[in-house]
Amino acid sequence: MLVHKIEEVKNITKNWKDCTIALVPTMGALHEGHLSLIKKAKEVCDKVVVSVFVNPIQFGPSEDYDKYPRTLDKDYELCSKEGVDLVFAPSPAEMYGEEQMLSNNTLTFVCPPFFYVNKLCGKTRVGHFDGVCTVVLKLFNIVQPDYAFFGQKDAQQVVIIKKMVHDLNVPVKIVQCPIIREASGLALSSRNKYLSNDGKKNALALSQILNNIRACYKKGITDIAALKETAYGYLTEKHDLEYLEILDKNTLEEQKKADENSIALIACRVENVRLIDNIYLGE
Ligand code: PAJ
Repeated sequence: MLVHKIEEVKNITKNWKDCTIALVPTMGALHEGHLSLIKKAKEVCDKVVVSVFVNPIQFGPSEDYDKYPRTLDKDYELCSKEGVDLVFAPSPAEMYGEEQMLSNNTLTFVCPPFFYVNKLCGKTRVGHFDGVCTVVLKLFNIVQPDYAFFGQKDAQQVVIIKKMVHDLNVPVKIVQCPIIREASGLALSSRNKYLSNDGKKNALALSQILNNIRACYKKGITDIAALKETAYGYLTEKHDLEYLEILDKNTLEEQKKADENSIALIACRVENVRLIDNIYLGE
């Protein structure tokens, strides 16, 4: 079933009192990465809700909100094939009210801690994680799921959402799912659609850099600067590197040496498309 209104979601979910409910929040343009979250949700819960909402308040003024791919008919078809019970695709006005669409100044925001936000993607995407946490908490309140599913692809996002749930005592269990990749190694992303064939080839550098860092770690290199330096062999003038970091995967803290808890994370622009990827060194 596809609904657009908050009241419709509430009317449907109130009949699911004896069921466990899963929520898979998405911005649509669904691919196998999203579908892996949906499949996991089907395994864990009786009922699965997928939200499809390109959330305006998590995009900066110079980001791709207007051109972000919107493919609701196809998304709904894919969800139906996976046996999703409810697809919730609200309009921005339904989520934030007509008056909010004119200004954010009167909206209550959830602001995750500076420590988690002032690094990695949050450093260049100012306000992004406020927008993410605000919409995710709203979706939790609307759907009231027992479980919610997020991808490791957005590693900083899932750490921040777990922290929000913990700090605000939100009664939902967060399940983190592994990154789904093309056979080439490229992590699936709705933004891969913006890349030319050449761009896709150049984008392979991200997963190659991360795999190589992990291989070097497995060979015994734990010096973080030395691990990061191994990336330079893969970068050309086609790559605009935004960050490459090795941090603690649970706390996003800096480490003296890489260890079994380390995560390597990269963000890079290829053909002006911002791509992110990461890898756990201990796995
Ligand atoms: P979106 O980019 O659509 O991603 C929805 C979910 O799919 C996220 O949890 C993301 O980590 C996961 N995902 C994306 N690509 C993946 C891949 N290759 N493998 C595994 N999982 C993948 O993330 C958002 O939307 C938004 O910020 C949202 C949480 C919906 C809030 O608006």
